Amino acid sequence: MAPRAKTMFVCNQCGAEYSRWQGQCRQCGEWNTIEEVKLSNQPAERAVSRGVSRVASLSGFAGMADGKVENLSEVKIAQTVRMPSGYGEFDRVLGGGIVPGSVVLIGGNPGAGKSTLLLQTVCKLSATTKVLYITGEESLEQVALRAQRLALPTSQVRIGAETSIDNIIAVAMQEQPSVLVVDSIQVMHVNDVDSAPGSVTQVRESAAALTQFAKRTGIAVFLVGHVTKEGSLAGPKVLEHCVDCSVLLEAGNDMRFRTLRCHKNRFGAVNEIGVFAMTDKGLHEIKNPSAIFLNRQEKVAPGSLATCVWEGTRPLLVELQCLVDISQYGNPRRLSLGTDANRLSMLLSVLHRHAGIQLADQDVFVNVVGGVKIDGTSADVPLILALLSSFTERPISRTTIAFGEIGLTGEIRPVQSGLERLGEAEKQGFLRAIVPFDNAPRNKSKIGNLEVIAVKNIQELVELV
Ligand code: TYD
Ligand code: MG
Repeated sequence: MAPRAKTMFVCNQCGAEYSRWQGQCRQCGEWNTIEEVKLSNQPAERAVSRGVSRVASLSGFAGMADGKVENLSEVKIAQTVRMPSGYGEFDRVLGGGIVPGSVVLIGGNPGAGKSTLLLQTVCKLSATTKVLYITGEESLEQVALRAQRLALPTSQVRIGAETSIDNIIAVAMQEQPSVLVVDSIQVMHVNDVDSAPGSVTQVRESAAALTQFAKRTGIAVFLVGHVTKEGSLAGPKVLEHCVDCSVLLEAGNDMRFRTLRCHKNRFGAVNEIGVFAMTDKGLHEIKNPSAIFLNRQEKVAPGSLATCVWEGTRPLLVELQCLVDISQYGNPRRLSLGTDANRLSMLLSVLHRHAGIQLADQDVFVNVVGGVKIDGTSADVPLILALLSSFTERPISRTTIAFGEIGLTGEIRPVQSGLERLGEAEKQGFLRAIVPFDNAPRNKSKIGNLEVIAVKNIQELVELV
C-alpha cells in the first residue's frame, strides 16, 4: 500500500476533501474555505483511551472489532430503550426519543436557540436521568442565570465549563451520566492535536473522540455545532458523516418559531419536523403546529392561497404567495422562496403547453409564508392557482385550500394522505378544497362544511380561476 498522505485539505463549508489546497471549493463554490487537515495517528482514539484509562474498571465495555465475523442473524441486540427527552417535538424528530450511545449533532445559526433547547432538555431529563452539561462558550454563571430566568429545575443537573475533550471524557467517566451535552463542538480541542479550536482538524478529532466515547460507554452525546457562512469555524457539514443524527434548528422568517428538522438519522425517519416557539420564557413546544403558518388576514389579495403539506406524519397548513408582473428587462425573473425553482420552471412550461397561458414576458415570484420549505409535489396545484390568481388579478377566497401534483402532460395526480389533509382543512375552518380527482372522497362532494372540488387536468384549474 502506498504510504498515507500526512495532510489533506477539507472545505469547512461542505466537507469536500482534496489532496491539495485550492482557493475555491469545486463542490460548493465557496472561496477560501479549504483548510489543511493533519492526519495524525488517531489522536481521537488516544484521547478516549487516555480518558477511559483513568477509570480503573469499565464494565460492559465491548471492545472494538477484534477481527471476528459472525452471522448478522446471530448478532446480539441489546434492548435499547429510548429515553424520552421531555419534549414530544424533540423526540419526534429524533425518531422516538434518545437512543443510548448515540451522537446527535444540533446545528443552527448563532442565536437559533440551540443552547436554550439543550439546557431546557437536560433540566427536564435530570428528574429521571443523570445528565452532564459541558459549556465551552458560556460561563457557568451565564448558564445558571439563564436557567434561573427560565425557572428550570437545576438541582440535579451537573455542569462544567471545559474545552478540552480529554478532560471532558475524564469528567464524564467519573460522573457516568446517561446524557452528555457538549456546547459547542467548535470551541473544543483534543490535547495532542496542534491546531486551533474551530479548525476542521480539531472539530473532526473532537467529534471523533466523543463519538467513540459514546459508542463505548452507551452515553448519549449531544453536540452543538454552529452553522456559519464565513469565518474560521468549521460548519457542521464536516461532522455529518460521523454522528448518528444531524438535526438542524432553524428560525424561519417569522422569528417567533423554530423548526427542528432531522437531516440524517440512523435510528428513524428524517422527514419529521418539530416546532417550537421562542418566547421570553424560553422555547415552548407547539404540539399541534398545523395552522401556525397560516396568515389569517381578513383582506383577500390576488396571488395568495393556502395549501396543506405533509410533514412526516402530520399535516401542516401553509400559505403560498405568487406575484406575476410584467418584466422590465429582457430576461424575466423566476424566483422561488420555499419551493423548488426547477419545479416552478416546469410548471410554467406545463401551463403554457397544456393551458395556453404564456408567462414568458412576466417576472414570477413565489414565496411560502413563514419561512417553511415545501419539498415534494403537492404544492403544484396551489402554485398554479396562485399564479393564475396573481396574473388575472382575481383573488381566491381565504377559505379555499388546494393541493395536488401536476404531471408533464397537464394531468393532475393524487398525493399521499389526501383524506387526512382534507380532514385537517375542514378542522381549520376551510370551506372549499381544490384537489386531485383521486384524492376526493368517493360519492360525496362535502366533508363536513368543506366542499371538495375534484380536478383532473390543468385546463380545469384554469377554468376555475
Ligand atoms: P441561544 O440558545 O443562546 O442560541 P444558540 O445557542 O443557538 O446560539 O439563544 C439565543 C437567542 O434566543 C437569543 O437571540 C435570544 C433568544 N431567547 C429568547 O428569546 N428567550 C429566551 O428565553 C432565551 C433563553 C433566549
Ligand atoms: Mg449557544
